[in-house]
Amino acid sequence: MRELTYCFLFQTTSENVTRRIALRPLGTPFAVSSSRLDTKAISNRFLKSPLMQTEQYSTSQFARDVDTCVRKCPNESEVLRWIKPLLEKLVRSPGSVPAEAFAPRKDRFAMNLIHMPRDERFSMVGGVWHPGQTTPIHDHLTWALIGVYDGEEREALFRRTNDGSNPKIAKIEKVSEKINTKGHVTVLGNRGIHRVDNISGKPTTSIHVYGRDIGHAERHSYDPVTGEISRFVSRYCNVLRDKERF
Ligand SMILES: [Fe+2]
Repeated sequence: MRELTYCFLFQTTSENVTRRIALRPLGTPFAVSSSRLDTKAISNRFLKSPLMQTEQYSTSQFARDVDTCVRKCPNESEVLRWIKPLLEKLVRSPGSVPAEAFAPRKDRFAMNLIHMPRDERFSMVGGVWHPGQTTPIHDHLTWALIGVYDGEEREALFRRTNDGSNPKIAKIEKVSEKINTKGHVTVLGNRGIHRVDNISGKPTTSIHVYGRDIGHAERHSYDPVTGEISRFVSRYCNVLRDKERF
């Protein structure tokens, strides 16, 4: 599966691409196509995994299944309907995700790129929240699935109550909040808005799938008090330098 673009090797085999991405100004298109990545030099660690020799559902098999799904399903609801049980199966399979996908950060939650096909039709990310770490209230501007692999996360879902005519201010309201534990999969359409944090005493790990190159997509965070909308590009923790801010 030569498209598998696993994380840390970006930094060691494609430093120019990494640097170019890191310096890209907010709001400009992602100019570096994945075809410029040195994919021949990117080894496929998953295919070498012993997990491939067993009945275990692996990240590489999951990535192949998702790839098939996004190209065959006619719309967002079908994509979500088909991928949800696959992600549930993945996060419930012991040892299905390599530990490297969950490399943490001390200063913020971590989002590590696991896989993205050449045409960037979707991205697969390993997320890590240490105790006390939180996201802002944010959107993805694409479909998203988030499956809890280990630990527990608190997730609050929001909805926008105004018409969106003001690009700088939004009225949002919380519609639910709950604790998600291992095996739970959240499904969000392209209008989904949420916040995820870890109020437990242990790290939380999760697998995320998005309908675009989520690390290089400009999207929004929302101030729950003032309603102010901010733009941000999240990037990937394992592709970019640690000093990059969220
Ligand atoms: Fe999110």
